[in-house]
Amino acid sequence: MDNSLAHKIKSSILYFFIIALSFIIKICYQFSYIFKRVYYSACLKASLWEADISVQCDSKVYILGTKKITIGKRCRIGRDTEFETEEYGIIKIGDDVRINRGTTIVSYSKINIGDFAIIGEYVSIRDANHGMKLNMPMRYQPHDSSPIEIGRDVWIGRGSCILGGITIGDGSVIGANSVVTKDIPAYSIAVGSPAKVISKRKD
Ligand SMILES: CC(C)(COP(=O)(O)OP(=O)(O)OC[C@H]1O[C@@H](n2cnc3c(N)ncnc32)[C@H](O)[C@@H]1OP(=O)(O)O)[C@@H](O)C(=O)NCCC(=O)NCCS
Repeated sequence: MDNSLAHKIKSSILYFFIIALSFIIKICYQFSYIFKRVYYSACLKASLWEADISVQCDSKVYILGTKKITIGKRCRIGRDTEFETEEYGIIKIGDDVRINRGTTIVSYSKINIGDFAIIGEYVSIRDANHGMKLNMPMRYQPHDSSPIEIGRDVWIGRGSCILGGITIGDGSVIGANSVVTKDIPAYSIAVGSPAKVISKRKD
């Protein structure tokens, strides 16, 4: 057998192994993906009994503080989402809500998110501000909090910030990177910082 033929055979065997290995990895990956979702959903249930059994977590979800959090049926929660309740804070998530990765929801009074809401990646929903009096460092001042109400079927775009005391009406859309500083009426499309209504949803 000459050298070039031996080389071709070696290359073919190598290609065959790479293709076979890539198939095996692909199959294992599918199983590990399913396993990961089941594992992290069980972790959530273990740390938060008030989460419905049907809630799915894509990856690790952080539950912090007093854990006064309820999560409804068929919700799906993305990687590194953080829920925190402090003092009198309560977080209530309705049914069929989708929360994308990196979202932070922190409550010192009350945050309600209605059924079918979609929360984009890296959204911040916080119902409290640090005290801002001049006589002491803000770090050590008590929080001022005011409840947030997010209606049914609301879509909040990526990177948005929802401040304390805000109500977002049913069916509204908040554009990416908006800062919501005032109430948004139902079925509005609002964008920007501060978020302003630019139109209404139509059929
Ligand atoms: C809010 C949104 C749905 C509006 O879409 P649309 O109705 O097609 O709006 P248009 O693209 O026609 O924009 C209308 C006007 O609003 C402005 N605008 C749109 N989105 C904006 C935003 N996020 N911030 C600031 N201005 C925005 C546009 O520049 C345009 O201004 P103009 O009339 O002066 O040119 C869309 O822009 C958006 O932000 N989607 C969120 C995407 C996202 O975060 N996905 C995460 C997946 S969960």
